[in-house]
Amino acid sequence: EKGGYPSFMEKEINDQPDAVAQTLLGRSDADGNLTLDEIRVDPSVLKNIDRIIVLACGTSAYAGQVARYAIEHWCRIPTEVELSHEFRYRDPIVDENTLIVSISQSGETMDTLMAVRYAREQGAKTVAICNTNGSTIPRESDAVLYTHAGPEIAVASTKAFLAQITAAYLLGLYLAQLRGNLFQGQIKDILAELAKTPAKIATVLENADQIKELARSMADTRSVLFLGRHVGYPVAMEGALKLKELAYIHAEGFAAGELKHGPIALIEEGQPVIVVVPSPRGRDSLHSKVVSNIQEVRARGAKTIVIAEEGDESVKAYAEHVFYVPETSTLLAPLLTTVPLQIFALELASAKGFDVDQPRNLAKSVTVE
Ligand code: M6R
Repeated sequence: EKGGYPSFMEKEINDQPDAVAQTLLGRSDADGNLTLDEIRVDPSVLKNIDRIIVLACGTSAYAGQVARYAIEHWCRIPTEVELSHEFRYRDPIVDENTLIVSISQSGETMDTLMAVRYAREQGAKTVAICNTNGSTIPRESDAVLYTHAGPEIAVASTKAFLAQITAAYLLGLYLAQLRGNLFQGQIKDILAELAKTPAKIATVLENADQIKELARSMADTRSVLFLGRHVGYPVAMEGALKLKELAYIHAEGFAAGELKHGPIALIEEGQPVIVVVPSPRGRDSLHSKVVSNIQEVRARGAKTIVIAEEGDESVKAYAEHVFYVPETSTLLAPLLTTVPLQIFALELASAKGFDVDQPRNLAKSVTVE
């Protein structure tokens, strides 16, 4: 059942090309146009929404944070991501023009269920992105967009995360199509680029030996910092969460731009810092800013480990270790850059002899508030 792998987690990491491919399957027609029949919310209602709130916890919330960049960019609808357990307690502003998008692998997370119920009571429309057929959150929502990642057994979420990003992107494209924010040709191009990601994830998996080796050599590490910017920021937080959960190592993810506002004080000789670098072909000088951040921490003694796009030579001078992922657009990069971070946590935890499928103190689905 583990498909020959030593753990479910390793199997699920390796299942990711398929998890993304399955989530895309049947959701565009022969001409490459998007068809999301399962979104059974009246299109006239969706045309009028003026706000999106994504509700989720843990890794699923990081998927929401990634998706927010794409949804706002494509649909021009203000989008927030809120941890489900914080949402209800701040007297949130929610009405019939608010679209609630819940993200949950299990569909049973009590915090998220209660937040969805609350939002519905306030008149909001609710769409669930979920990996578990017939679970409670989809049943209590107006519509559901299933991620077809297949059952996820390991407590630490991996393939569900990539499938959640994929599904949330499809939802964003669907809204953009419905509301006329993107031309049909643009939507087709993005779908075509998405369709190429499973093969690119497979490439990342095939080239994982070096990151495995590095992870195993770092079994005695006490703390690891993760930096990212734009979509790389939630990826950094996800990388840190994986390391905490599996290897019980103190890890924190930061927005790279926040470094100088405090966290840079943590940098001392030998402190490992993993940096998720945006594509040099991307917009808004994101890349050069992150490269400066690598220089800043390096100058203070950090051991710099960099995840960058294939062909990006500029990072080599500042990185002790560089791991390359294939080229893709800025918004799709998380589907690739997350994978080495998952492998890093898995290998480091395995080197320490920990049970990666059942980390201490954690449950696969958190059904209490
Ligand atoms: O089933 P859900 O997606 O609602 O679960 C949410 C979180 O509990 C979950 O992502 C948790 O953070 C995982 N252990 C992450 O690896």
